[in-house]
Amino acid sequence: MNKTALLYSLVLSSAIFSSTTSATEAKKDRQEIERGRYLAVASGCHDCHTPGYGETAGNVPRGQWLTGSIVGFKGPWGTTYPVNLRLYVQQKSEKDWLARVRQPMRPPMPWFNLRDMNDADLVAIYRFVRALGPVGDAAPVAVAPGQPVTTPYIDFEPKNLPKQSQAKQ
Ligand code: HEC
Repeated sequence: MNKTALLYSLVLSSAIFSSTTSATEAKKDRQEIERGRYLAVASGCHDCHTPGYGETAGNVPRGQWLTGSIVGFKGPWGTTYPVNLRLYVQQKSEKDWLARVRQPMRPPMPWFNLRDMNDADLVAIYRFVRALGPVGDAAPVAVAPGQPVTTPYIDFEPKNLPKQSQAKQ
């Protein structure tokens, strides 16, 4: 092989190698995002963060997935609104997401479920939500206990609770 031919074959093989590497990486990214999609469904994020998800048994177009809700949850903690996760992830780095979602949040957000997920699962959810892209408006700001609520809301006030002493038995 003369020098030019050798050079050509080197350039060609490195091009083939790097294109297969990036194809493999792209495939890995797609698989991770797909896993994030699956985890968000299976761990129930849509139930609160996607409007109309429960009412339609999950039949909500992708465009509205995880865009938050204007329907509040009113309880002893005040009134809270499932945030628009598609906007939320845009403002957070992956590292900040991992740190934040393991910290306490107000009810009925099941933050302790996220606390007990492993990093890989939490990152997959983050990457999936980011891949969906930013859409929609921010959810209303939480209302403090005892303050008037002007949005629709669901009453989450516990009723007919057994007395403390009985509950412990
Ligand atoms: C039962 C309803 C419910 C479910 C299920 C739920 N969330 Fe939430 N989420 C909320 C509410 C309500 C808030 C607002 C809490 C507040 O204002 O303190 C919230 C807030 C959040 C926040 C914002 C935290 C911040 O910095 O203020 C993140 C992130 C989040 N949820 C992620 C998730 C993910 C991921 C899942 C699925 C694993 C999930 N949520 C499932 C109701 C829910």
